[in-house]
Amino acid sequence: MPDLIFDVQNVSFAYEEGGPLAVRSLSLQVPKGAFYAVLGQNGSGKSTLAKLMNGLYLPTEGSVSVCGMDTKDEKHTWDIRCRAGMVFQNPDNQLVATIVREDVAFGLENIGVPTEEMPGRIEQALRDVGMTEYAERAPHLLSGGQKQRVAIAGVLAMRPEAILFDESTAMLDPQGRREVLSAVKRLNRELGLTVIWITHFMEEAVDCDKVFVMHSGEIALSGTPREVFAREEALRALRLDVPPMAHLAQTLREAGMPVQDVLTVEDMVREAKRLCR
Ligand SMILES: Nc1ncnc2c1ncn2[C@@H]1O[C@H](COP(=O)(O)OP(=O)(O)OP(=O)(O)O)[C@@H](O)[C@H]1O
Ligand SMILES: [Mg+2]
Repeated sequence: MPDLIFDVQNVSFAYEEGGPLAVRSLSLQVPKGAFYAVLGQNGSGKSTLAKLMNGLYLPTEGSVSVCGMDTKDEKHTWDIRCRAGMVFQNPDNQLVATIVREDVAFGLENIGVPTEEMPGRIEQALRDVGMTEYAERAPHLLSGGQKQRVAIAGVLAMRPEAILFDESTAMLDPQGRREVLSAVKRLNRELGLTVIWITHFMEEAVDCDKVFVMHSGEIALSGTPREVFAREEALRALRLDVPPMAHLAQTLREAGMPVQDVLTVEDMVREAKRLCR
């Protein structure tokens, strides 16, 4: 069995005692180095699940372990927060200092990293997200995508095993979204960072390892992107779309054109060439 970074076993969670369950009997195993996407309509439980996975919330029932540590075990609380970092939606709420470098240092100070170790970690983290040349700039003068990459550097500097991204591209323009997603994909590929990518943008999930679709606190659909996005009807019933190219392929098939296996623009180009030959 590969190293599990997250092991979510039969977890239920209610915000109030006896209240409705925001997450119900949910199980999910995430191996080291995986890139998993979590989709689902508003209120389906994605953010609650993310906060259960880094120990911000504790399960009402069931258990969550992070790198083998139970989130209910108080002696591991800090260790778990460092191993499983989180990046949220609004970059402005995550940056606290007046200079980029200090912002990345902030989290390190909080976890008590020795002062002499900090510059190396900060340089490395900024390099990993392609923000080295902005180290001395003021965060509020950066673009949304750049701010979000600084926020990621702040988490990376803590040397996490995994980062949970909770709609971290939702407030960005298309360029900013591409910037952030490609930085995260590179961290996954090159550093083996485990990634949980929560999003409302279907096209952001097309090349991840697995997709999980939540509905009413449960996982309603899961599988590879090809398996999940082939279920157009099921997704629509869960108030989600398929990626635009998958929808176009479906429409073309209904019109009698045998396009196959299409999720991305590149797939569509390949199929168009094949059919025109
Ligand atoms: N702080 C809270 N107190 C009480 N109920 C909450 C709280 N936060 C979320 N909920 C409820 O828990 C359920 C799951 O919410 P959650 O925020 O996890 O959904 P989500 O999938 O992240 O939604 P969105 O796409 O809007 O971010 C919803 O019914 C929501 O109303
Ligand atoms: Mg949410």
